[in-house]
Amino acid sequence: MNIILLGPPGAGKGTQASRLERDRGMVQLSTGDMLRAAVAARSPVGLQAKAVMDAGDLVSDEIVTGILSDRLDQNDVAKGFILDGYPRTRAQAESLDRLLAEKGMKLDQVIEIVVDEEKLVDRITGRFSCASCGEGYHDRYKLPKTEGVCEICGSTNFKRRPDDNEETVRNRLVEYRAKTAPILPHYEAKDLVSRVDGMAPIAEVEAAIEAILDRQD
Ligand code: AP5
Ligand code: ZN
Repeated sequence: MNIILLGPPGAGKGTQASRLERDRGMVQLSTGDMLRAAVAARSPVGLQAKAVMDAGDLVSDEIVTGILSDRLDQNDVAKGFILDGYPRTRAQAESLDRLLAEKGMKLDQVIEIVVDEEKLVDRITGRFSCASCGEGYHDRYKLPKTEGVCEICGSTNFKRRPDDNEETVRNRLVEYRAKTAPILPHYEAKDLVSRVDGMAPIAEVEAAIEAILDRQD
C-alpha cells in the first residue's frame, strides 16, 4: 500500500510515518530528511537547499521531484511507502501522478492530519532528536525516560533542526497554507482523502491511521 501523509509542519507526519515503518514494514519517504542528508553531505543539491530551508521557504519543485524520483527507483519501496512532506505544491502533485504512472505504481490513500495551527509552534520549537539513531523527543511531551539518555540506543547526543525556531516555523505555516493545503482538492477529486485528528495523543492518531489502512487491506 502506498500513502501520503499530509499536514502542516509539526502535524506529526514524521512521527506517524516512522511508527508505520516500524509496525507495518512500509518505507518512510521524507523529502525533508532527504534534503537534510544532502545538506549534511554538502552535495550540490544540499548547498543550494540549505538557505532556502533555513528560511522556511520551499525548495524548487525540480530539485525535490528529482530526489524523490531517484528514491522511488530503489527496490525497498515495493514494500509500500509513506510519503512524508511530498507533494507540497500543485506542480509536485502533478509530477507525482506522472512518476507513479511511469514506474507502474499507484497511490492508495491520502491521510490529512488535521491540527490546530496555533499549537504547532509550541510543538515544533520543543522538538529534538537523538543524534545517533534519530528517535524524536520533545521538551514537554516526550522526554527520554532517563534524562539526557536516548531510550532507543543509549546515546547522550541530541540535536535540534536549524529551521525549528519560531520565525521560520511561522513562515513554514504560511507556505503550507498558500501552496500545500490547495493540493487537497486534487486528491479529493480522486476520492483518496481521509482525515485524522492530529491533536489527539500520538498513540490515538496512530490507531486512527491504522484503522484507515486496515479498511484498505
Ligand atoms: P520537512 O522536514 O518535511 O518538515 P515539515 O513539513 O515542516 O514537517 P516537520 O518535520 O516539521 O513536522 P512533522 O509533521 O513531521 O511533525 P513531527 O512528527 O516531527 O521539511 C523541512 C523543509 O524542507 C521545508 O521547510 C522545505 O524547505 C524543505 N522541503 C521538504 N520537502 C519539500 C518539498 N516536497 N518541496 C519543497 N521543499 C521541501 O512532530 C512535531 C513534534 O510534535 C515532535 O516533537 C513530536 O514528538 C510532537 N508530536 C507529534 N504528534 C504529536 C501529538 N499527536 N501530540 C503531541 N505531540 C506530538
Ligand atoms: Zn538514539
